[in-house]
Amino acid sequence: MILKRIAIIPSVIALAQAFTFTVTVGIDETNGHQGIGFDPSTIVPAAGDTIVFTYALPEYIKNPPSVQHSATQSTFDAPCTPKEGGFDTGVQNTGSVNDNTGTSFSLTVNNTDPLWFFSSVGSDCKDGMVLAVNPPTTGDQTAAAFKAKAMGSSGSQQTSASSGTSPSSATPSGSVSATQSSGGSTVSSSTAAQPTGSSASSSASSVSAWTAVLAGTAAMLVFGVGNAVVA
Ligand SMILES: *[C@@H]1O[C@H](CO)[C@@H](O)[C@H](O)[C@H]1NC(C)=O
Repeated sequence: MILKRIAIIPSVIALAQAFTFTVTVGIDETNGHQGIGFDPSTIVPAAGDTIVFTYALPEYIKNPPSVQHSATQSTFDAPCTPKEGGFDTGVQNTGSVNDNTGTSFSLTVNNTDPLWFFSSVGSDCKDGMVLAVNPPTTGDQTAAAFKAKAMGSSGSQQTSASSGTSPSSATPSGSVSATQSSGGSTVSSSTAAQPTGSSASSSASSVSAWTAVLAGTAAMLVFGVGNAVVA
């Protein structure tokens, strides 16, 4: 679909276009060969975009052996442990583009919070088969830090899977990224409704709004009293 959503936000009517990020499971992105990895291993989708995990290997890889991997959601703290209630394609066989075993799985991105994935098969995860979605680019939770943590996690899995499994990231966000607008389709409407004054003038306008409410209440009281008198 082209028009995923029509969003009305203050002063702007945006026709947002959703994008699909295809991640091929079982490609080493550093050389394009079949291998241990997600290709690409870092993606930066916006809210409303879709991630498609495909097990169909590209056509240029001739007669690829069918290999098992998964795309399983985890957490930064426990890169190789499935997140409770998280997304999981389950273990699948890779196949060429012409092979019907090369299935695909879709996941809608609801906000730009980081999402972390790994392959749960064998030693894939500690061999570095991880995917970072919207990772922070600075600080200690980057894509590189996630991969390093996964690769170092072999004998040091201190974090229990039962901790902190609140699926808060699954909560759809109402916000819409302005950067998703397709070229030429963003239309600004009148900005008259947008508060433009200083905080002093906006508190002045809320005072006058309050005054109007009081005046309206007084008018209703007068009207009510008038009715009572007539009755
Ligand atoms: C986004 O919301 C949909 C619908 O509630 C849900 O199925 C999906 O898992 C959510 N996506 C993520 C990444 O949590």
